[in-house]
Amino acid sequence: IAPDAAWRDEVLELARKQDAVILAHNYQLPEIQDIAHHTGDSLALSRIAAASDASTIVFCGVHFMAETAKILAPHKTVLIPDERAGCSLADSITGEQLRAWKAEHPGAVVVSYVNTTAEVKAETDICCTSSNAVDVVASVPADREVLFLPDQFLGAHVKRETGRENLHIWAGECHVHAGINGPELAERAAANPDADLFIHPECGCATSALYLAGEGTVPAEKVKILSTGDMITAARATSAKSVLVATEIGMLHQLRRAAPEIDFRAVNDRASCRYMKMITPTALLRCLREGRDEVHVDLATAERARGAVRRMIEIGQ
Ligand code: 13P
Ligand code: SF4
Repeated sequence: IAPDAAWRDEVLELARKQDAVILAHNYQLPEIQDIAHHTGDSLALSRIAAASDASTIVFCGVHFMAETAKILAPHKTVLIPDERAGCSLADSITGEQLRAWKAEHPGAVVVSYVNTTAEVKAETDICCTSSNAVDVVASVPADREVLFLPDQFLGAHVKRETGRENLHIWAGECHVHAGINGPELAERAAANPDADLFIHPECGCATSALYLAGEGTVPAEKVKILSTGDMITAARATSAKSVLVATEIGMLHQLRRAAPEIDFRAVNDRASCRYMKMITPTALLRCLREGRDEVHVDLATAERARGAVRRMIEIGQ
């Protein structure tokens, strides 16, 4: 299906008739971002899902995001246009692995990135996203051990920012962000000496960026480690004429909309998440026509996970 005016009209009309709100993550295809009622990062979209009056949420993102919306709003119908849209990072720890890790550190506070399954969230004390991970960990009393999971690069960023020694980090990663590596970033930064660097903390190159700043290759004020939502705020605030962006390439669309005068370039233009891209115009229309795929979370699991997710949306407001 072509994302033309007829497609647009039908999607919006079906959404209106079904009292549905369409949410799209910043990594979605441009046509999906453009038709959504709200676009944003995972924290912003969770907050919108929790506060929305709509009786149906159509989540254009990956499965754990739709599941998080269902945990927050159990009485709403939550739909995802393709339930196969998974996440390699969420798959990097299971509930059973987390239970075993907790048994090795009795009394530790479990902080899980929102990129986790509902089962993992049910074993978690506080969830976080990339935009509030530092605030969430800083909210834990300094003498308590913290188990941070599943992303090792976000964990390293939080450890650097909080200076916490009692933070244990799970060795998971997102295949898309881990693949944006240090040598590639160094090469791009050398070729674009005036550019700002916007780097998502899940990237393999986040440490290298700080290293480049430390050795003076790139001025420190040009290196910004940011969630996808914070990249948009930073784009509006910077005086730079060009920006190198290290994250999933769907992000470039919102950045170009926010600051059309800036030349945004991907550090790695192959950094595309195949799961995010499963939400096609055809899948979105089918979702609204046929009411699928519906997201279900077992009630007992949702009940156990809800406190951790609520704490996440309250911290860093
Ligand atoms: P944020 O929207 O929290 O920056 O998330 C990044 C991500 O990888 C989601 O899949
Ligand atoms: Fe998961 Fe990575 Fe895709 Fe985000 S970009 S949904 S973390 S696999």
